[in-house]
Amino acid sequence: MEDKNKNLIIQTENFQLFYGDKPALKHINMGIIKNRVTAIIGPSGCGKSTLLRAFNRMNDLISNARSEGRILIDEEDICNKDTDLVALRRKVGMVFQKPNPFPMSIYENVAFGLKIAGEKDRARLVQLVEKSLRQAALWDEVGDILDRSALTLSGGQQQRLCLARALVIEPEIILMDEPASALDPISTAKLEALINNLKKDYTIVIVTHNMQQAARVADYTAFLLLGELVEYDETRKIFTNPTDKRTEDYITGRFG
Ligand SMILES: Nc1ncnc2c1ncn2[C@@H]1O[C@H](COP(=O)(O)OP(=O)(O)OP(=O)(O)O)[C@@H](O)[C@H]1O
Ligand SMILES: [Mg+2]
Repeated sequence: MEDKNKNLIIQTENFQLFYGDKPALKHINMGIIKNRVTAIIGPSGCGKSTLLRAFNRMNDLISNARSEGRILIDEEDICNKDTDLVALRRKVGMVFQKPNPFPMSIYENVAFGLKIAGEKDRARLVQLVEKSLRQAALWDEVGDILDRSALTLSGGQQQRLCLARALVIEPEIILMDEPASALDPISTAKLEALINNLKKDYTIVIVTHNMQQAARVADYTAFLLLGELVEYDETRKIFTNPTDKRTEDYITGRFG
């Protein structure tokens, strides 16, 4: 890969992850470039979510998961026992496949992370909530109903709310696991436009099953198969001229 201005924010070094004895990720060596969108694609069960969760140690929540190798974020090994997980997850935020707003108001959903972090100044909270909702392209729809339950929003609105909730604590990296899979085409287009805008300020890693989506939003694309990183390159290269036969078979729909 010709990373001309290579500025790596995440680097995995021989990273492996096992569920019990079963390897789910095998010797992954991958550098993720700052302020770019990187897509992870591959058939169901190939390890996409596992890899994404490794970037903020969410696999720690799975009792039989065990890892080997290193993942450096801003050159610090996050696999270290001493890693401050709260700080890590502030730096590396996450948006899940299914919108999962908390059962509280729209405002409280977004303010939540700030309050947990100790912010008490009401005026500042209000200001930051608005800023994040604007960044998530949701303000125009909810600015005057902030006290309403988040659960009354549509799926696409809920997903943008979850994005606002992730953005408000100013992460450096945002992980998205199939964020559009529950959304209609219009909401999906909105989310994709948003992702494109956000890369000025954030590094985005997105798992998607939708290859057109990867082609539209990602600067770089990684193809995983059976826990192995088969090919990782500029998106254009992956989709027009892949090096590995298995990548070609996958993107042309011969399997997966
Ligand atoms: N908690 C778990 N315990 C045991 N095995 C698991 C666990 N979670 C995932 N696996 C296995 O690890 C492999 C990778 O799973 P993962 O969820 O990362 O795949 P994926 O690429 O995200 O799939 P999908 O596209 O279906 O979401 C699969 O074989 C899966 O069955
Ligand atoms: Mg998955």
